[in-house]
Amino acid sequence: MSEHEPIDSQENLVEFEHHRLSTDKPGHGRAATKGGLKGAAMSIAKKLDGAARSARVSTLPARRKAPSFKDHTLYQSMQKYRLIGDTVGLVDPFFKEHQARLGATTKMAGKTLINFGSYDYLGLNQMPEVAEAAKAAIDQYGTSVSASRVVAGERPIHRELEQGLADFYGTEDAIVFVSGHATNVSTIGTLMSAGDLILHDELVHNSALVGAKLSGAATKSFAHNNMEALQRQLLELRGEYRNVLIVVEGFYSMDGDMPDLPRLVELKNRFGAWLMVDEAHSLGVLGATGRGIAEHYGIPSREIDIWMGTLSKTLGSCGGYICGSKELIMILKFQAPGFVYSVGMPAPAAAAALAALNVLKADPARVARVKANGDLFLAEAKAAGLDTGTSIGYAVVPVIVGDGIKAIKMTERLLARGVNALPIMYPAVPMKAARLRFFITSEHTAAQIKTAVKVTKEELKIVSSLGGVFKRTPKAQQV
Ligand SMILES: Cc1ncc(COP(=O)(O)O)c(C=O)c1O
Repeated sequence: MSEHEPIDSQENLVEFEHHRLSTDKPGHGRAATKGGLKGAAMSIAKKLDGAARSARVSTLPARRKAPSFKDHTLYQSMQKYRLIGDTVGLVDPFFKEHQARLGATTKMAGKTLINFGSYDYLGLNQMPEVAEAAKAAIDQYGTSVSASRVVAGERPIHRELEQGLADFYGTEDAIVFVSGHATNVSTIGTLMSAGDLILHDELVHNSALVGAKLSGAATKSFAHNNMEALQRQLLELRGEYRNVLIVVEGFYSMDGDMPDLPRLVELKNRFGAWLMVDEAHSLGVLGATGRGIAEHYGIPSREIDIWMGTLSKTLGSCGGYICGSKELIMILKFQAPGFVYSVGMPAPAAAAALAALNVLKADPARVARVKANGDLFLAEAKAAGLDTGTSIGYAVVPVIVGDGIKAIKMTERLLARGVNALPIMYPAVPMKAARLRFFITSEHTAAQIKTAVKVTKEELKIVSSLGGVFKRTPKAQQV
């Protein structure tokens, strides 16, 4: 839309307003026309380009077939992995069908299993009041809010959830997005740009990396939880960039460990950087009342510039949030493409997350239970001689088995023994550090945890003795 065209609809009005408010930044609204010599040079280059293109058009071949997706490099490489899997007798562990609400147990192929593949850390996705809140919101507002909140307007539940989250974190304001992944992509992609620097832990989630790429900022990773490495990067690079953003997670889901937050705060203050903490796996898990890593370390939450988290894990819903200063939230509300140009969170999802947050606030005993269960799992696994890497317990304990094939085989064999734990392998973790990840919840019983560790130890012994070539599991035994 040009600024001189009539503004003929509400949607155009919003687009116009957004265009006006936008910074001159690729990928965020439309860039303002650049004037001056540079602008003139660009327009001549564009014309020459156009002329060259029309010359080429006249010499184009009559017909050219688009390549088949079968020949796409990604498809080809997936086929290669499938072939290797078939050759060594593996059953695909992914996209398995569950016939129950995932919690401490699940049901697959009609069989009830002990489940360690759910992020429902406090069992809130099992609570009738959470489901009831979602149902009531459907009755009141329907299943969709139809469009971006900017144009389709607010439902009271959106702001109630945002205020609830801001209150929980002790920040001035909050904003919710329809997806946790989109929250990181949009937030980092909006705040940072060319001339800025992003320093991130090498294990941060894919969504932060995609956001960094979108932003156009220079991006560097530092070794996992290595504050000395981060300090070296800041010493070397800080002076060359306008804004610097440090991105870490409150609790890492591949390893079950956490960063040194006091040191991060000291570094960000010394070097004048922003600190963003992704609490996807630490909300409801760390801190005596589940307020996350700041509560764990006793650090005032306002010391951290950007709190990010997802509603899909502890809060039993779907979506993501940012908590922080009112200025930060205002920037995102008007500039973040994943908010401005994407549908608002469905009311039932917002209502479920709010109800879950209220249960968490009212019942911190659940937080103590998940910690006790994580401690028990870790102690049992260590006593059984399993390699739990750097895990400190809480809600995530990996069991490192070596190569990916072994990890996949372990999942298959554990399923046959009544335990669901999923494999993670390269590139999500280093090549020889493939693992099973056990996600522990407040609702697991001590007996379930002890059984899982015992079975894992027994099966790992068998799988290790097979030396990488496995007999295909008979169909009847597959789950
Ligand atoms: C650390 C982290 N951040 C962000 C996300 C994205 O959240 P969601 O799955 O709710 O979109 C995840 C998801 O697993 C995550 O682990």
